[in-house]
Order: sequence, then structure tokens, then C-alpha cells
Amino acid sequence: MENNNRKGKNIFFHENGYKILKNYITNQVDSIKNTFILVDEKIHKYCLPILFNQIDFLKKSNLIQIKSGEKEKNINTCIRICKNLEKFKATRKSLILNLGGGVITDIGGFVASIFKRGIRFINIPTSLLGMVDASIGYKTGVNLDSIKNEIGSFYIPELLIIDTNFLKTLPKKEIISGMAEMFKHGLIANKDFWISLNQIRINNHHNQWYDLVNTSILIKQKIVDKDPKEKGFRKILNFGHTIGHALESFFLKKTEKISHGEAIIMGIICESWISSKINGLPINDYKNIKSTLSKFYPIEKKISNLSNSEIENIIMIMDHDKKNEKNKIQFSLLREIGNCSYNCHVPYSLIKESLRKCN
Ligand SMILES: NC(=O)c1ccc[n+]([C@@H]2O[C@H](COP(=O)([O-])OP(=O)(O)OC[C@H]3O[C@@H](n4cnc5c(N)ncnc54)[C@H](O)[C@@H]3O)[C@@H](O)[C@H]2O)c1
Repeated sequence: MENNNRKGKNIFFHENGYKILKNYITNQVDSIKNTFILVDEKIHKYCLPILFNQIDFLKKSNLIQIKSGEKEKNINTCIRICKNLEKFKATRKSLILNLGGGVITDIGGFVASIFKRGIRFINIPTSLLGMVDASIGYKTGVNLDSIKNEIGSFYIPELLIIDTNFLKTLPKKEIISGMAEMFKHGLIANKDFWISLNQIRINNHHNQWYDLVNTSILIKQKIVDKDPKEKGFRKILNFGHTIGHALESFFLKKTEKISHGEAIIMGIICESWISSKINGLPINDYKNIKSTLSKFYPIEKKISNLSNSEIENIIMIMDHDKKNEKNKIQFSLLREIGNCSYNCHVPYSLIKESLRKCN
């Protein structure tokens, strides 16, 4: 990973963020024609006008648009973007502004890391998940067929600009998706933050999000900066995701669908129960977590009728997770609310029981 001097010091919020962005482009990019904004069609409609309203001269930059959605997050889209950069005569001094959700920041960051062996990029996330999770932590990448994020790189953006105003047009289901990661941040690292999240309402009034997004970002950034390449401590960010990701993949093939956020919440509930069994999490903390999250996510019935063979299927998916080590499924488990361990081995029997019990 290059550019270590920028690690964690490049996040700017709201008005100040736009001021810094404006100065950066004015002083550090040779021509506005050497700036490329990557968007999807929804971002073009809802978010680009907000950015142009803040920095008028960006209208003269080059726009590259892709279709929205996870399906577009593949190497072919990257090649199309590279061809566009080539067509518009991008150089090694070019700059890509990724304006969008996690799909855009993941693809745009990856393209920046490979085009001409690496050009600069800036993230301006517009979804809640993008703000509190996807645009932080230097991971970029795309899917290889159905394998998530199989091709990618660690690559540091020049700047990360956060503007919660973008959330005004974000659909409620996307708000819920981002909230799951915020709950996780509280549970693994900051009990006070967890408590403050218990009081929020699901809406996209950006005033509510201003401070919460800020705190959530700083929690993740602090964890990432201690262990940028996920050698150890950073793995606590995987809490809830071992079971959550397996449930997400499992439900992809079912008629009843669940969102990424719902899958992660179910994962958090199951893994909190496991934490109470083998990692010292007080049982009352588990009950608190389950009842709080169930208020926001009426998900229980979705996993209440899993058959034994379906549970086996979910375990098989976990066995294939690329984050496993030494042929063992690796878990991050809570010791208490606000404190998390990593590299925990959990017997299969307990994983199965959690899927049966936590609904
Ligand atoms: N790199 C990482 O560390 C990391 C971490 C977590 C997630 N991710 C990735 O992030 C992706 C998910 O991100 P996401 O949930 O933002 O999905 P997304 O980028 O697909 O955005 C969700 C939908 O909301 C729309 N949208 C975004 N902002 C909007 C706004 N302000 N107004 C109206 N519509 C808006 C998008 O067009 C899209 O249709 C996944 O591919 C995931 O793998 C990456």
C-alpha cells in the first residue's frame, strides 16, 4: 500500500470537505479536463447536482457513468471505465472522483489502482453504507462471477469527503443496510455509540445522521489504522459477517430475499449468542442486543424455519469464505458490548445451534 502519509488524515466533512476538495482540484490537478467523475444513473440524477452546486467548475470535468447495482461490480465494467479514461486522454496525473454508493467507490478505487499502474482518486460516498463502511479502509475491488470482492487492491484515496445531505434521497432499505454496520461499530468498539444508536429512527433526515455518521467513521478508521492490511486486530470488523455473509449468499438462491443489512443483523444476533456461550459476553448483553436489533429489523421469521439441510448448506458456504485460515472458520466474537476478540474458533455444533436458537 503506497501513500502511507495520507492514512486516516484525509477525511473531511460537509462545508469544510468541499472547501478542501475545491482547493485540492484547483492546486493539484493540472487541468479540469484531467478530472473524471464516476457515477451511476441514480447518482447522476440525485447527487451530481448537489456536488455541482458546491463546486461549479466540476461541470467542466469528464463524466463516466455506469449502471447502478452490484451486478455491475465486475472486471468488464472496469475495462469499460479504463477505455473511457483512455478515450478522454487520461494521464498518470489524472484524478477520479468516485461519487456514489459502495459499488462506485469499490469499482472506482480499483480502477484508479490499476489504470496506468495507479492514478489518484477521491471518494465522495452518497449512501449510508458507503459513508460509514465501504469508502473507509482502503479496500477496493470487484466481484469475480458470484465471488464477492475476489479481485481487488488496497489503495489509499487522496481525500474522503462526507456530506450527509446526500442521504435525503437514499431509499429507506439502503438506510437500514448502512445502519447495520453502524450498530456493529458500536458493539465492537464503543458502548456509548451503541447506546446512542438505540434511540434513532429509521429515516433519511440528514440532521440525525450528521454526528452519528461522523462517530461511526472515526471508529472504523481508528481500527483500520491500527492494522491496515487485516493481519489481526482489523478482523474485529468482521463481527456478525461470518454468519451474515453466509446467510446473504444462501438467501440469494431462495424466493424470499433478504437485504445485506438484514443478513448482517441476523449474523450479529447469532454471533452475539455464540459470544455469550464461549467468549464471556454476559447473557443480558446478548438479550439487550437481540431485543434492540429486533426493533429495527423484523427479521426473525425469515430464519425461524431453516431445516437441518438448509443449516448444513449455510455452514458449507461459511467453509468457503476467503477469510478462513488453517481450514477453520474464523469468528470475531464480543467479550462485552464495546469489546471484541478475533481469530476465535467456534465448533460447528454451536454455529448450527445459533442458527436454530436465535430466532
Ligand atoms: N471496500 C469496502 O471496505 C467495503 C465495505 C463494505 C461494503 N462494500 C461494498 O459496498 C457495496 C454496497 O454499497 P451500497 O450499499 O452503497 O450499494 P450501492 O452502491 O449499490 O448503492 C445502493 C443503491 O443506492 C443508490 N444510491 C446511492 N446513494 C444514493 C443517494 N444519495 N440517493 C439515491 N440513491 C442512491 C445507488 O445508485 C444504488 O442503487 C457492495 O458491493 C459491498 O461489497 C465495500
